Amino acid sequence: MGDNPNLQNAPGAIPRRVFAELDSTNEEARRLARQGEAGPVWLLGLRQTGGRGRRGREWTSPEGNLYATLLLRPGMGPGAAALYSFVACLAVADLLDRAAPGAEVALKWPNDALLNGGKVAGVLLESEGDGRAVHWLAVGIGVNLASAPPRAPDAAFPPIAAAEVAPPPSPEQALDILAEAWDRWDALYRAEGFAPIRAAFLARAARIGEIIEARLPQETIRGLFADLDEDGRLVLDTGETRRRISAADVFFP
Ligand code: BTN
Repeated sequence: MGDNPNLQNAPGAIPRRVFAELDSTNEEARRLARQGEAGPVWLLGLRQTGGRGRRGREWTSPEGNLYATLLLRPGMGPGAAALYSFVACLAVADLLDRAAPGAEVALKWPNDALLNGGKVAGVLLESEGDGRAVHWLAVGIGVNLASAPPRAPDAAFPPIAAAEVAPPPSPEQALDILAEAWDRWDALYRAEGFAPIRAAFLARAARIGEIIEARLPQETIRGLFADLDEDGRLVLDTGETRRRISAADVFFP
């Protein structure tokens, strides 16, 4: 799929491959993993024809934005590997601080980044394993650098691009910044576990201490965003009880 991969030396520790066009960098990561690629490796697509978001949504992927996936073999169980979505969000926040100086950058549980209140980036984790160990993990990251898609009817937030704040970096430059930030946050996660990642995420979390709404398949829970627990679950204080939520779409009423 896609053009010939251009092997490049990244400034960070992890090598990268750049593709002019791909169906999806996450799909390429899956193919490579199934072919035995050991990773870690960054895959950068300059365009995607089948970009995907969470819950099977499409991720519109014209040229100018960042579409990157880190393929790795984390050597962890599914719970610990899933927490890499928070590591990725922190690296994205560092990228946005540089790409959109002076703008308000916030993280929305579990894996979105907001710029001046609009959705600017999302993270999609995909993996395969045997239930006890994760064999490979694809950390897919999309950042609206040059352009934002039109707002989808069910979107919780208006899309925004970094270009609305400042002239944006190219995708290659953005990956330089992202990969360097990833290396720092990943080193911290591996050395000290989830506690400092959780604290850093909470420090940048949108609407902490305020009323938010978590939409689950069977119910909608409204409550005070009280915490993120040690397993990365959203803790909502409903007034009657504390609910710990593993997966939901979050809205700010
Ligand atoms: C979301 O917010 O729904 C997550 C969006 C993730 C998009 C990125 S772009 C790079 C990687 N390849 C994909 O097909 N999806 C992720």
